[in-house]
Amino acid sequence: MQNDNFPPVADQPRAEKFKNDLMDKIVSLCKRRGFIYPGSEIYGGLSNSWDYGPLGVELKNNVKSEWWKEMTRRRENIVGLDAAILMSPKVWQASGHLTAGFADLLVECKKCHHRFRKDHLQNEKCPDCGGDLTEEKKFNLMMKTFVGPVEDEAAVAYLRAETCQGIYVNYKNVLDSTRLKIPFGIAQIGKAFRNEITPGNFTYRTREFEQMEMQFFIAPGENKKWFDFWKEERMKWYLNLGIKKENLRFKEHKKEDLAHYARAGVDIEYKFPFGWNEIEGIHDRGDWDLSNHGKHSGKDLSYFNEETKEKFIPHIIETSVGADRSTLAFFIESYREEAVLAGRQVMPTGRQEKRVYLNFAPVLAPYKIAVFPLLANKPTLVELAGKIYGDLREEFMVAYDDRGNIGKRYYSQDEIGTPFCITVDFQTLEDDAVTVRERDTAKQERVKIGELSDWLKSKLV
Ligand code: GAP
Repeated sequence: MQNDNFPPVADQPRAEKFKNDLMDKIVSLCKRRGFIYPGSEIYGGLSNSWDYGPLGVELKNNVKSEWWKEMTRRRENIVGLDAAILMSPKVWQASGHLTAGFADLLVECKKCHHRFRKDHLQNEKCPDCGGDLTEEKKFNLMMKTFVGPVEDEAAVAYLRAETCQGIYVNYKNVLDSTRLKIPFGIAQIGKAFRNEITPGNFTYRTREFEQMEMQFFIAPGENKKWFDFWKEERMKWYLNLGIKKENLRFKEHKKEDLAHYARAGVDIEYKFPFGWNEIEGIHDRGDWDLSNHGKHSGKDLSYFNEETKEKFIPHIIETSVGADRSTLAFFIESYREEAVLAGRQVMPTGRQEKRVYLNFAPVLAPYKIAVFPLLANKPTLVELAGKIYGDLREEFMVAYDDRGNIGKRYYSQDEIGTPFCITVDFQTLEDDAVTVRERDTAKQERVKIGELSDWLKSKLV
């Protein structure tokens, strides 16, 4: 966890927060097309909570699935895990999260009573009204709840603040039930909760969020080698999925900024419209976690190396990505506005205006392809388009549209990032081929119906 240089944002009405033009457009597109809605909206909303709609859940699932493939399927020494969100409170004592280590410094404005993180402020006055601020006090970020019917201290539990603790407490189980040898990793995707003082900037900082974490268990002394290795591997992942190099950078943690568990840390930052900010943290956690869990649980969490006959507490290099933050970064990165050339494309309004499209890497796009019959009132075209749609749906997320003209349908699919649209036209009835139109270039080619599935698979690698 690194303090990021955020513009100070208090927990105040959403509209005020999104002064940035591009963020306004993105938030509005997300709502209109079903990517992300404000949470609990019919009750006036719960501030800084967001719900993923039909397209948002596909996009975020694709991000998670690409991470999972990258971290587990493509690597024979990393396995998966799905641990419970509620864990014994002793876990959080041992990890240091219940003590000062996991607290932010909170200040409150004496006049308007808005609260801020001290490290997010540029000066000593309230950024909202200029009022004087209270003395700083430590504010623990753990979310507390009660387990069972009695709400007393004995029933206190915490919603996990980082998913990796579920990995540490299962490290021995994984070792005993697999044939893994050090170095090896355990990967997990799941929800985490933090009682953030100043959530904001859409899904960037929320109190409930999802993490994709991988903990890599190594022999002591190999820390630098593996830290550098994972740093480079993780950067490649974003680049391979279409984020431009100039929008990504590393930010090394200074000693005074290190999280309480880390000996070294680096963030991967993305250039958001609201500034450079962290999307992933890579930490050398040394033996902090396993040593502390060993001490607090009384269990031997050491590792015995059969070859060297050495016994040691493994050290850990972790890679920790926010699924929501990285999804937001992929969304922002993909947003494009393009002036429409006269006559080339008819917009729904009939006016010449800009084309908005999301140029997601095809693997990330919610829909991979959309199927259109050229005319909705020609049963032969509709029937064949329906069949192609049904067949492709067995393998891919496919949209179907027969409303309005083809231009409007392209516009609508571009706006949600569908990389390919196919049109069943009169020629299809003669040559068994369809016109495939590519989203970014608007280029068209004919593809045989029987080859569509393989053709599409070749675009999704
Ligand atoms: N286990 C290490 C850990 O949790 P972190 O830097 O505190 O490290 C890792 O968090 C990642 O989790 C961050 O890079 C970010 O992407 C995501 N994250 C953390 N707090 C978040 C929040 N309040 N809202 C959304 N994502 C968050």
